[in-house]
Amino acid sequence: MNTITLTQPDDWHAHLRDGKALERTVPDLSSQFHRAICMPNLVPPVKTVEEAIAYRKRIMAHVPEGVAFDPRMVLYLTDHTSTDEIQKIKQSEHVNAVKLYPAGATTNSANGVSDIRNVYAVLEQLQKHQVPLLLHGEVTHSHIDIFDREKRFLDEVLQPVIQQFPDLKIVLEHITTADAAQFVLAQSDKVAATITPQHLLFNRNDMLVGGIKPHFYCLPILKRQSHQATLLEVATSGNPKFFLGTDSAPHAQDAKENACGCAGCYSAFTAIELYAQAFDQAGKIERLEGFASHFGADFYGLPRNTQQITLVKEDCIVPDSFNYLEDQKIIPLLAGKTLQWRKV
Ligand code: NCD
Ligand code: ZN
Repeated sequence: MNTITLTQPDDWHAHLRDGKALERTVPDLSSQFHRAICMPNLVPPVKTVEEAIAYRKRIMAHVPEGVAFDPRMVLYLTDHTSTDEIQKIKQSEHVNAVKLYPAGATTNSANGVSDIRNVYAVLEQLQKHQVPLLLHGEVTHSHIDIFDREKRFLDEVLQPVIQQFPDLKIVLEHITTADAAQFVLAQSDKVAATITPQHLLFNRNDMLVGGIKPHFYCLPILKRQSHQATLLEVATSGNPKFFLGTDSAPHAQDAKENACGCAGCYSAFTAIELYAQAFDQAGKIERLEGFASHFGADFYGLPRNTQQITLVKEDCIVPDSFNYLEDQKIIPLLAGKTLQWRKV
């Protein structure tokens, strides 16, 4: 198969940032996706429906002429989020979910939830109104090994939450382990997961053997090869519990190539080509459409897109860098490398 046509995909987990960064991120992401779940970890975070609507307007101001892009907004859950705010989500046309970052888990998560039991009243409302809870699934205690943080979250945080709120819609974001994949498979259809291109294409050897490669550093961190293999297996299985979320997260080159480098891979501009590469390597290119274009919309209860895109099996060279902010650069995932599929 050298040409495939897909329903236009959506990205169910992306970081666009704010201000001047939008000049870069919005054209890049909207060249690939019709909808994107826009993560709320700005500084300060997006905590109310009003703030989310204002943020959406700032995003829309950067959508190129003639491009149809529909940012879907998310509120950042804190220990102090009120149950009234959840009611407002139900009335809002543009807000679709609430994101839980355990405090300190990742970039800009200092205002996150310190103990999930503090927000049980909010989870009750989410369950009642069937608003999805999006999870950064890692525990943060300093003594827990970084490679074990996702698994510990499943056992210690998520299992009790699901027991307490069995009808709560949950997306376990950017899963990185076989443990998470199996956990999601074992739950009801209320529990789903997103998977990034970097966790399908790479493992920790790619990041660490032969020298540290900071552009592969993201959170949750890349795991061993056997986990990568399981993620690829579930992503390409046709199971609707697993769908596309790039977690494209821009950081300037200086902040990544640094003695204390930031976490995040930038994949917005070539995301569908990266996923096509992964699916094709697994011999499952025909399963890309469900994962990229159908299952996420179905889970969120939104209509599937009606537009289509075409991919051809031709070389696609990932740009070496992109201009970012005033005078900085972003080095994208697989900068300068050749991918085998190209969006036409
Ligand atoms: C994200 C970011 O930079 O905002 N970084 C990352 O490594 N994935 C935050 C996140 O999703 O964890
Ligand atoms: Zn993210």
